[in-house]
Amino acid sequence: MRMFWKIGLLLPLGLVAIASGTVKSSAQQQDSVSVIPEPAHVSRGNGTLDLRHGLGFDTSVADADAVGVARYLQGLLATTGDGGLMKSSTKGVPQLRFAHRAVHVPRAGEDESYSLEVGADGIVIAASSRAGYLYGAISLWQMLAHNSGEVAAWRIEDEPRFRWRGIMLDSARHMQSEKFILQLLDYMAEHKLNRFHWHLTDDQGWRIEITRYPRLTAVGGYRPQTMPPYQPGSFAPTGPYGGFYTQEQIRRIVAYARERNITVVPEIEMPGHATAPLVAYPEYGSAAKPLTSMPVGWGIYPNLYSPKDATFAFLEDILTEVMELFPSEYIHVGGDEAIKNQWKENPEIQQKLHALGLHDEDALQSWFMARIEKFINAHGRKMVGWDEILQGGLSQNATVMSWRGMQGGIAAAKQGHDAILTPNRPLYFNYRQSEATDEPAGRDPVNSLADVYNFQAQPAELTPAEQTHILGVQGSIWTEYILTEDRVQHMLFPRAAALAELAWSPTAPKDFMDFLQRLPADLKRAEDAGLEPALSVYEVEAHAMPVGAGDHASVILSTQGALGQIHYTVDGSQVSATSPTYREPLSVRLPATLHALAFEGNTALGRPITQQITLASALRRDSRELDPCGNSAGIQMEQDPIRNAERPVFRVVYSRPCCVYRKADLDRFTRLTVGVGSIPYIFQSQGKQLPSRSDATSTQAQIAVHIDSCTGELLAKVPLQPAYRKDGLITLPAVSFPRQTGQHDMCFAVEGADAATVWVLNYIQPMGGDER
Ligand code: ACM
Repeated sequence: MRMFWKIGLLLPLGLVAIASGTVKSSAQQQDSVSVIPEPAHVSRGNGTLDLRHGLGFDTSVADADAVGVARYLQGLLATTGDGGLMKSSTKGVPQLRFAHRAVHVPRAGEDESYSLEVGADGIVIAASSRAGYLYGAISLWQMLAHNSGEVAAWRIEDEPRFRWRGIMLDSARHMQSEKFILQLLDYMAEHKLNRFHWHLTDDQGWRIEITRYPRLTAVGGYRPQTMPPYQPGSFAPTGPYGGFYTQEQIRRIVAYARERNITVVPEIEMPGHATAPLVAYPEYGSAAKPLTSMPVGWGIYPNLYSPKDATFAFLEDILTEVMELFPSEYIHVGGDEAIKNQWKENPEIQQKLHALGLHDEDALQSWFMARIEKFINAHGRKMVGWDEILQGGLSQNATVMSWRGMQGGIAAAKQGHDAILTPNRPLYFNYRQSEATDEPAGRDPVNSLADVYNFQAQPAELTPAEQTHILGVQGSIWTEYILTEDRVQHMLFPRAAALAELAWSPTAPKDFMDFLQRLPADLKRAEDAGLEPALSVYEVEAHAMPVGAGDHASVILSTQGALGQIHYTVDGSQVSATSPTYREPLSVRLPATLHALAFEGNTALGRPITQQITLASALRRDSRELDPCGNSAGIQMEQDPIRNAERPVFRVVYSRPCCVYRKADLDRFTRLTVGVGSIPYIFQSQGKQLPSRSDATSTQAQIAVHIDSCTGELLAKVPLQPAYRKDGLITLPAVSFPRQTGQHDMCFAVEGADAATVWVLNYIQPMGGDER
């Protein structure tokens, strides 16, 4: 079992295990074209095109868009080591040509279609728009990258399934560099994704320079820390955390995106998720007392803009600068999770509500959003908001972004409004992507690559006419517990590639295994671009169970995607495609060193795993192999601030620190230790006061160990006192319990702890015969 996400150890290795060839590598072997997202129509031509002497491109006969796109293609080929392929020569080499003509004109929206014809004497990309040229060139690049100089003759005719193919990134909770944003835009373009929804403001940070209101960034752009130290005094303070994007940076980003057929859709949150701007300009808030400090916790804060004229003037000034920076047709204004306590408690706001003849605060939010929408529409733009804008009545032209499942999108489409689907299950990429114990922090449960790929984006509840209101789909990532750019990459890639295929390729036929076969080449190209995608779908997971006298274990190997064959060794030697093939649970003598890796043919998938298997490791359960006691899903979080490579990630269940070890083999042990850690209570809930850490005086806290269920017989009590106010991970002293027989669930419940600390159970370590 790999306890920690070994960022420092694993990532520099990159995708070395993925051979430079692709699963479908040579032109001869190809029975389909290895392009992601899969093109709409593909047919095989005769023969192959010989590119050993290069591919000529004649700028003198090409239009300006074609020259620009050819230059872009040249850049892509350079990233994959194929920079020498394109020549300016017009003699003796096959030619790349662009033809300006319509391929498939869509019923609505921009024409992004193209055709790509690879024949024996050259390549022709045809399209009616620069976007079509671009997408033709990207498909061509994917066919040529890492190729041996021959490409099969194909004819592709391609067009998108959806107009809106989006990725949302939260740059408010944790901010990413301009360089990272550009890398993300590159990846998006290479997968024909065309909307970058940029979440720029939230309670914990305001990230866009507004020249008229400098305090938005000077004050609202910084908070005291990333998160509070989890125990007072146990970490050196991290200092202010924050920053913002200057208008100059934003102009560069918008222009870079536009070159890649990506529209940047800014999000300016209102009326809630507004603590940062209201700390900067408290006069526009609704709180009884003006806000004075930036928050360091997560969750839903109660701070709302006040619905008065001065606030609208303030917001309109902001939106004016926003619209100058972002040419996007759509402006996103949030609208989610606005809890209305402050509006309910504020007499002036209540007076306004009654004066407007509104019956409740939801109606007041509707009125608020409609007023903003009128301003946005008057500037020739459209408003989009999260699905809560449906509550209290939807304003006339608004587009709804459905995140709490599909209902918002369905309701909007039935009312004749456009909708974009980004339901949290499965299109939030801040959820974990596998059950592996070395996944970085993320929300439970798992949104796997297959979940994303197989998402049904055309709800059966809608008639064909209503379905035309579904503009498209979007993968969204929130960054409360996704602190760094490498983590954002791990969560986004390759789920964004699966999303791209969902968003672009026709509904049927769709084959996840075929996608998994095309994906290694895609991952290799991402690695070439310096990205660090997750390999979770391919990597081997090993589960060992002690058998017999405890000197052997039965080891089950699996991969999430189940592509290819798993090969393994248990004698300490490195694993290769000629190592034994896994066919059934292994019986291994303990202790053993396992190496395992999946292969598709000779192509290694992911990275090899290495595990020391002992009786103790086979009995041990990591926090993420334990079930939560109740129904509440946890969040996998890590202690903060980041200190070193070995950061444990815990399954945190705020409502109740309690977990179950399923089917413990109680014939094998009568003693155990528990590893614990703690984090502060940092989630706001519906505006409730957070418990204060100064209340953290309880020293009576303990972990009660019950057999069979959490109300079963009490087996042992593990005092938490040794871990109180301690730094890092603590292993509590071992406890013994009376001998039991057979397999039983064991419940571990924290009791008697103060409310300000959230205890997390990091692992349960039974102590078997070899440790007594
Ligand atoms: C959201 O996840 N609050 C839109």
